[in-house]
Amino acid sequence: MQRTKVKDLLSGAGVGNEVLLKGWVRTKRGNKYVSFIAVNDGSTINSLQVVANAEDFSEEALKDVTTGAAIAVTGELVASQGKGQAYEIQAKSIEVLGKADPEAYPLQKKAHSLEFLREIAHLRFRTNTFGAVFRVRNAMAFAVHKFFNEKGFVYMHTPIITASDAEGAGEMFQVTTLDLNNPPRTEDGQIDFNEDFFGRATNLTVSGQMEGEVAAMAFSDIYTFGPTFRAENSNTTRHLAEFWMIEPEMAFYDLKMNADLAEEFIKYIIRHALENNREDIEFLAQRLAEEDKNKPQNERQEMTLIEKLELVVNNDFERITYTEAIDILLNSNHYKKKKFQYDVSWGIDLQSEHERYLVEKHFKKPVIVMDYPKDIKAFYMRLNDDGKTVAAMDILAPGIGEIVGGSQREERMDILVERMKSVGIEPEHMWWFLDTRRFGGCPHAGFGLGFERVVQFVTGMGNIRDVIPFPRTPQNAEF
Ligand code: 4AD
Ligand code: MG
Repeated sequence: MQRTKVKDLLSGAGVGNEVLLKGWVRTKRGNKYVSFIAVNDGSTINSLQVVANAEDFSEEALKDVTTGAAIAVTGELVASQGKGQAYEIQAKSIEVLGKADPEAYPLQKKAHSLEFLREIAHLRFRTNTFGAVFRVRNAMAFAVHKFFNEKGFVYMHTPIITASDAEGAGEMFQVTTLDLNNPPRTEDGQIDFNEDFFGRATNLTVSGQMEGEVAAMAFSDIYTFGPTFRAENSNTTRHLAEFWMIEPEMAFYDLKMNADLAEEFIKYIIRHALENNREDIEFLAQRLAEEDKNKPQNERQEMTLIEKLELVVNNDFERITYTEAIDILLNSNHYKKKKFQYDVSWGIDLQSEHERYLVEKHFKKPVIVMDYPKDIKAFYMRLNDDGKTVAAMDILAPGIGEIVGGSQREERMDILVERMKSVGIEPEHMWWFLDTRRFGGCPHAGFGLGFERVVQFVTGMGNIRDVIPFPRTPQNAEF
């Protein structure tokens, strides 16, 4: 007999027939006449109830049917007499495929803290919360590809090992096969990377943008979606050392078109999750509401998770310039009452407290901030006519802060080379990148969306470590 997944069984697939169910025991309860076994196989947040009558199953036969065990059940799928589920299985046979010693199995029926579950990341997928989070993550990853595919973008696989820190986006992880305890040295005592695997120093990529720009100069519209690495030593709820980024790059786009695409894209993937993972998101919303009950009144959310997501999907994002953002901050009571830890003046890099003030207190919705001072942004961003700002855009989301960073690119060779030199990048090292300006260069733009940050936004998870299966953060790479 073919196995049927819980999701299909719960929608009544095969009702009245004998079915084969395989999955993991969540709970077993009952009395001396009957046992109820809740089985989950990850296909849905819901578990299927298996009813085992004592006359068919001795206590001995069910002794290894404990929380966490893998079992196979055959029996008739019937309309449930109990409340809480539409269908259940009247068991005919139950086989234990893999035991889970109740004395040793760390997941129990009681709710565990997220911190504890991070320490058993290999088992946390088996909880309702992480089941929901990672099904939502999966749906959103699929929606990313669907969105760009529908628009005729080409998915480019950009390299993970690169030789350039073109971006200056962050600290890098070095990739080497040299024995660093005893490395080959040049005459002046430096490590001789000519002897290294690639004949030069290499590192893990901080962004696929440079390669993406090259590809956009042939395919018009491309996107990347892959792992990205930054060795920043920041232990925050929004930073990972290994995270996934989506980077579209479009020829013939200006900053406004770039912002329009980013907004449409974010709404699309959120809407996809709302439509396809309703039960998971409802569960996560419920979870947040419970969490909120333990907080003081003034820290509680004004909206439920679903209301918040629907608001984002159904309304325009706010668009302001950096200069306007600074004015709003300077004129805020928050500023006047000296409640910001970091001072505000034109030219500063916005701190997360400033970003959060703008989106959470002032606008109460996502905000696209454009035209930042050139000195705080990357060299490749297009210089505006004022000579002071660049055509950059960051998208800030309530509760998260920056989820997107992007810009119109500097397509004018002379200005680009000038900007490179001013930040200490040798133009010769980037000869292939500069060739895109030399041969058929054109106005173009792109952005990077931090995938985990948008998954955080949709699932309401407070810590980025809880939305990536195996988080990489300082001092942490156990699993
Ligand atoms: O703003 P960033 O550094 O932009 C770039 O890397 C550009 N090359 C993108 C482009 O224009 N193609 O990073 C983009 C986004 C951020 O807005 C944030 O959402 C996410 O990547 N991000 C991180 N997410 C998790 N952990 C980290 N350490 C992150 N650093 C950036
Ligand atoms: Mg950024």
